[in-house]
Amino acid sequence: MGKILVAVTIALCAFAWKMYESLDLRKTVYNHRPGICRQVHGPVKGSEDIELIRSEGIAFITSGILYLQPYRGDIVEGKMFLYDFNQKLGKDQLKAKELPIKGASFDQNNFHPHGLTHWVVNGVIRLYVINHSDGFKHSVEVFDYDPSGPALIHKKSIKHASFIRPNDLAAIGPDQFIFTNDGVTQSEMGNLAEILSGYKGGSVYYWDGEDSQVIFSAMAAPNGIAYDVKNNKLFISEINYRRVHAYTVEKDKKTLTHLSTVDLGTACDNLFVDSDGSVSSGCHPVLHEAAKSIGDCESDVTSPSQVIRIKFDKDYKTAAISEPYANDGKEVSGSSAVAFHNNQMLVGTVCKGLLHCEIPDPAVL
Ligand SMILES: *[C@@H]1O[C@H](CO)[C@@H](O)[C@H](O)[C@H]1NC(C)=O
Repeated sequence: MGKILVAVTIALCAFAWKMYESLDLRKTVYNHRPGICRQVHGPVKGSEDIELIRSEGIAFITSGILYLQPYRGDIVEGKMFLYDFNQKLGKDQLKAKELPIKGASFDQNNFHPHGLTHWVVNGVIRLYVINHSDGFKHSVEVFDYDPSGPALIHKKSIKHASFIRPNDLAAIGPDQFIFTNDGVTQSEMGNLAEILSGYKGGSVYYWDGEDSQVIFSAMAAPNGIAYDVKNNKLFISEINYRRVHAYTVEKDKKTLTHLSTVDLGTACDNLFVDSDGSVSSGCHPVLHEAAKSIGDCESDVTSPSQVIRIKFDKDYKTAAISEPYANDGKEVSGSSAVAFHNNQMLVGTVCKGLLHCEIPDPAVL
């Protein structure tokens, strides 16, 4: 009896400690910036994910996320924005333009974009965007970018049973992508139960253009995913475990060979691969505050933001981690994405605005 009691007490303490740690109750965030930062005019209901088109110096941004049921507050209209890194930095207000979406089959009312990725198909920038309907059903919407408008042309909607609770995706070929399901349950309560019980309901799938094939099941909330075309490496953020995995993509595109796992100690959302191969992320350094602000987007409640940069060695076995930006939430709240281009940085948020920073000396990264 005594032994059982001790075992149960230890188990309960371990559980309580894990809970306590995972809420970041005693973490303090100290503000710092890589240079001058400004708010970007445009998205106000989120800039959850950012996809840079390096050759053009432009970035596509998703806005108006709908995440889990029941959704509290109003259902926000989903929008796509375009940020041009070539715009003048000076006194003028920086702008992200809303992109009109054309296409007879496009269902504007049921469009709530989440993660996005791109691939250049026959010289045209093609976007693949995770979409949740008002009722939290899921699809991947495919758009072609028309720079003359500029506008997006809706091409098709991909639906499949493997889109369980899709969060993010990374194109690895024309109409081919690897995507994450960050859990199985569809409601806020269910997700809470998943987090508290440590249930590993997350999964990663490969969409080959016609069908899905499972790559990993039983992951703890795989969230952001990014592909480095140049080095053929894939990165996945397992947000509930506060770590990022690095893989090599094998020829069949559905086999990922694990290279290393980087413990970050902070919950990192979407991932970005820079031209030097380093991986960056918009993270939620204080989880209990993030949960509060993201759970009630319409309120003024804010949560801290953090940009983390991971520089791997050439074998992707070890990594140096730095923090180019951190903020208590007053300047930018609930950071979920980042993109670097030409000594500039864009920081996206789950459901608030968009921040731009200059990086006069990249040595600070
Ligand atoms: C978004 O996804 C939902 C659910 O799959 C679907 O009903 C809706 O038509 C999609 N939106 C667009 C723009 O096709």
